[in-house]
Amino acid sequence: MTITSYFAKDLFLGQTVFITGGSSGINLGIARNFAAVGANLGIVGRSPEKLDAATAELQALGAQVSAHSADVRDYMALETAMQRCREELGPMQTLVCGAAGNFPCPAEQITPNGFKSVMDIDLLGTFHACRAAFEQLKETRGNILFISAGQAFMPYAFQAHVGAAKAGIDQMMRNLALEWGRFGIRCNSIAPGPIEGTEGVRRLVPKDSAGPLKKTIPLGRFGTPDDIGQLSVFLASPLASYITGTLVVADGGQNLSGSGVWTQLIMAEMAKAKSERLLGL
Ligand code: NAP
Ligand code: COA
Repeated sequence: MTITSYFAKDLFLGQTVFITGGSSGINLGIARNFAAVGANLGIVGRSPEKLDAATAELQALGAQVSAHSADVRDYMALETAMQRCREELGPMQTLVCGAAGNFPCPAEQITPNGFKSVMDIDLLGTFHACRAAFEQLKETRGNILFISAGQAFMPYAFQAHVGAAKAGIDQMMRNLALEWGRFGIRCNSIAPGPIEGTEGVRRLVPKDSAGPLKKTIPLGRFGTPDDIGQLSVFLASPLASYITGTLVVADGGQNLSGSGVWTQLIMAEMAKAKSERLLGL
């Protein structure tokens, strides 16, 4: 099944969608789905190699691409990237705030700079993107998609930094929905569950734990980047024109059963890694 089985190929024809962190993983999946329905893409990330590869992939789908190496923690760099994108592709209709960083770490071991790095990339970086995009979105009466996570509303062990950042993102989303509705700007969050083949799963799902974890998910599987891409296109489209200030959880029901199983799995993995280190293995 592809998105164009259900949505018109020209739903976003000629419109500009700007995605922070759009060079890989879930965010690249979102970009691919927008490209399939006619959008042009602005993408930022830090690695030029990843940006080049993503650009080629999106161009092969027929999209024009404006790619920029920038760190979302650097407001001026992000503003410049958005301005260049506007010059190349026209004002943005949709902003996707997807850039994020994550590593599992017991709270008592997270250094202040480790905590700050995640807050700065996820929360401050998201504010930077929204603030820098505001004038363009006001002009197009566009919309913003915030990429959240289950950690925002469910405590997961070793994710104190990420939970704080993603919960902050969702509350900022509600604030901006409230304040910017009068400009016609809609704001919504998406909380993906574990998405197959992504860096997030590589970092957070211990080796050999994917099977037991999938058994705890009511729909019995991890998600795909297309699951999140298709939802993104819907939320950004006129089909969702009365939806704002909402968090949509796309996790196959994973969070319904809490974080207990995952916590046990990752605690066992961290304990194993620690004992292997102590044994010099
Ligand atoms: P990913 O491929 O590593 O995506 C993160 C992207 O953000 C990368 O393109 C990365 O590129 C970019 N990025 C990171 N730090 C940046 C910075 N300081 N400035 C600019 N760009 C930066 O990981 P993913 O797993 O697909 O995650 C994508 C999003 O989904 C994240 O918001 C994550 O929290 C969320 N999420 C993921 C899962 C999952 O199962 N994977 C579940 C729930 C939520 P560079 O490193 O080149 O900068
Ligand atoms: N465990 C504990 N602390 C860690 C860590 C880990 N696995 N990885 C990084 N840190 C700490 C570092 O020690 C450092 O703190 P310190 O200066 O007190 O030692 C701090 O985090 C910043 O590290 P640095 O490597 O300088 O960060 P960065 O800004 O270059 O990168 C990260 C940010 C750490 C989030 C990095 O993992 C990243 O770039 N991630 C992007 C991709 C990603 O996470 N994708 C998944 C999304 S769900």
